Amino acid sequence: MPPEGGTTNASLRKVSRMSITRRTFLEAAGVILAAGHRLRAEDGPPVSVAVIGTGARGSDLIRALTTIEDVELIGVCDDYPPHLEQGAKYAGPKAKTFADYRKLLDDLKPQAIAIAVPLHLHYQIASDCLAADCDVFLEKTMCYTIAEAQKLAQQVAASKRVFQVGLQRRANPIYRQAQAMVEAGMIGQVTSIKAQWHRNNSWRRPVPVPKTDANWATLEKRLNWRLYKAFSAGLMAELGSHQLDVVNWFLGTHPKRVFASGGIDYYRDGREVPDNICCLYEYERTPPQKPNKEAGAKPYTVRVNYTSLCNNAYEGAAELIMGTKGSLYLTSAKGLLFQEKGADTVNWGADKDRPEAEVNAAVVTAGKTLKLSNDPWAHRGTPIEIDIEEGNDTRDEMISFIDHVRRRDVKTIADTTVGLMDCATVLIANSAVEVGGWVEFPTLS
Ligand SMILES: NC(=O)c1ccc[n+]([C@@H]2O[C@H](COP(=O)([O-])OP(=O)(O)OC[C@H]3O[C@@H](n4cnc5c(N)ncnc54)[C@H](O)[C@@H]3O)[C@@H](O)[C@H]2O)c1
Repeated sequence: MPPEGGTTNASLRKVSRMSITRRTFLEAAGVILAAGHRLRAEDGPPVSVAVIGTGARGSDLIRALTTIEDVELIGVCDDYPPHLEQGAKYAGPKAKTFADYRKLLDDLKPQAIAIAVPLHLHYQIASDCLAADCDVFLEKTMCYTIAEAQKLAQQVAASKRVFQVGLQRRANPIYRQAQAMVEAGMIGQVTSIKAQWHRNNSWRRPVPVPKTDANWATLEKRLNWRLYKAFSAGLMAELGSHQLDVVNWFLGTHPKRVFASGGIDYYRDGREVPDNICCLYEYERTPPQKPNKEAGAKPYTVRVNYTSLCNNAYEGAAELIMGTKGSLYLTSAKGLLFQEKGADTVNWGADKDRPEAEVNAAVVTAGKTLKLSNDPWAHRGTPIEIDIEEGNDTRDEMISFIDHVRRRDVKTIADTTVGLMDCATVLIANSAVEVGGWVEFPTLS
């Protein structure tokens, strides 16, 4: 993958210039630029919301919710006092605090709940909130097991409550635009996807008492729940779920099967989940009919290479969607389009602010051919950046959720269909690691 921003080669030559405006391009792609819209005062009183789990992510959600006018944050809950204190600080004095979420539900009867607790608790707490007639925003991954996610999906359907999984890329304007670009055929037939979440840290949180303290072991498990199988599904659920959701979304389907290998190869510190994993997914996809004529209607296989590491951050977190006419390199903060050299010129992307933008760059200096042919970045040309102001997709996803709550619209941006598919997609990779072979995508009811 390129360093964000693209080419390193000064001797690239422009062979075509983009000629239509960005506005025309966006309209052609039918792009919705913002996932959520500002709710208006005339839409009714604010939605009463409470947050369960006020650790790292719960605090993000609280901070986002307190910036949305149409939300009244009435309560926060955490059964670990230091985190509850932190949540209460972000939520402000009007929010009541609880150590027991059932008491919060009984006392406050909030209209909507945002849940950000460890994975093994997702099902039970979400199910209890639905039973208490709340609309539910549940952090990803939807559930700890596929069976739990299926049961929860059935409960949501029967309850008619609004439900959204915390897959915030679905609310991110960059991803929304990129998905529309793929759907419009702008990178041709998608043939391959590579995605990764690589970083260089142990994932381990410090424990605020000495090892000799009687509470150390309990506290260590509570704070480092991600590292233990009884509470966590590891890298795939914590990181891969975001990116495989992007893949499912962009390909419009779920994988057929996955092969994966992973292990604890570096951080041999008592953890139980892999510190590195490498997956090969196969998707069967029917090509879009329009405007991608050459694809035909026959299903074909898209192979998706997904890796996650805890000991090298070189590639960071990104997805590379590769098609016959171009590639999209996506992160939460930036989207880049690289047109394929020699592919039909799409001629889009330039506007009056970027008249010098260059596409389809080609190598012309003969003496440099050898050097350049060994340069893995030589064929990428000058990328076109998806030119959308960087936002806050956590806030955007909450705005979208609240908007759906207001309108009683159960078709949220990450409803149970999306959440269940994502959950199964990541959990079968863990099964593949365990069995050491291919695992088929299950039939989901
Ligand atoms: N969407 C995202 O970008 C994103 C980012 C980080 C985490 N997450 C998800 O959010 C969830 C929480 O992750 P985190 O990093 O905030 O973990 P965390 O450990 O920081 O916070 C979890 C909190 O839940 C509390 N908790 C546990 N049991 C509880 C109970 N019965 N009642 C009330 N509170 C309880 C814990 O005390 C803790 O404060 C996970 O599902 C994770 O995957 C999502």
